Amino acid sequence: MLEIDLSTKLASLELKNPVITASGTCGFGEELNEYIDIEKLGALTVKGITVKAWSGNKQPRIAETPSGILNSIGLENPGITGFIDEKLPVLANYRLPVFVNISGHSIDDFVFLAEKLAPYPEISGIEVNVSCPNIEGGGMAFGTDSSLVYQVTREVRKVYPGIVILKLSPNVTDIVEMAQAAEEGGADVISLINTLLGMKIDIKRRKPELGNIFGGLSGPAIKPVAVRMVYQVASKVKIPIIGMGGIMSGSDAIEFLMAGASAVAVGTAAMVNPVLLLKIIDEIRDFMKDNKITKLSEIIGQALL
Ligand SMILES: Cc1cc2nc3c(=O)[nH]c(=O)nc-3n(C[C@H](O)[C@H](O)[C@H](O)COP(=O)(O)O)c2cc1C
Repeated sequence: MLEIDLSTKLASLELKNPVITASGTCGFGEELNEYIDIEKLGALTVKGITVKAWSGNKQPRIAETPSGILNSIGLENPGITGFIDEKLPVLANYRLPVFVNISGHSIDDFVFLAEKLAPYPEISGIEVNVSCPNIEGGGMAFGTDSSLVYQVTREVRKVYPGIVILKLSPNVTDIVEMAQAAEEGGADVISLINTLLGMKIDIKRRKPELGNIFGGLSGPAIKPVAVRMVYQVASKVKIPIIGMGGIMSGSDAIEFLMAGASAVAVGTAAMVNPVLLLKIIDEIRDFMKDNKITKLSEIIGQALL
């Protein structure tokens, strides 16, 4: 029998397999654990946390599109205090690495959140979501300006001792520039991609379908863009990458690994059917068995020319 080693490394952290939940699609673990044994996953990334509790954007907040969904949930979350008091004690019982996704509207917000999370060793790392608007800087998303990506990373790095993951926005001209800024700022890991900005019109009402007008596109529709961006970033940075965007199957995940990702995250697929998360792990293992590959590291970056 061929021994298959699915383990992978994200900086100093070893994951038993490369499949992680994508932030915002699996709540805080408890919700997902009703459907699957979450300890079988490589790691869990929880919903984006902000300084204050927030009830999210106007309804409707989800619209279906060809091979994808548009969402404008808008970071509905219990705030950092609610998270630490109510969600973290439950998360701490699970035997798997947990990443906490954080969002802010200023550099101070990100630093505040990172400082608050720093004392908790039950959290393996923070994922810094730079896709939100910089209110003090005129409302453009942090992730569209490489000097802001650098500054946010550097300031968070100073106060947070665990793994710092920078989650990049795909709504940019040059993703490599953003990834290099994160690497220079001291990020341990890069994750990409967040959702692509989109919109849908209800032609009967002659109005935008989402209450927030625009939303983030996710699901299989964005996979080719995501694979391309992972490939470009992997060619230019040394730190490990978590790849995501439209992964529905083991072969989708393997595309990301071959493009240079060390791990993958699964979002929309888990909302469609949480069992897919575990099926993707099994399918990666089957692919390796069929191709007589014993170590996941033999796949990572194989398509890079
Ligand atoms: C409903 C929903 C909520 C999301 N919330 C967050 C979030 O809070 N923070 C974040 O960084 N990304 C968030 N995302 C983006 C996902 O983590 C992921 O980057 C994106 O959906 C692409 O992966 P997928 O196609 O597998 O869903 C959200 C996506 C969806 C669909």
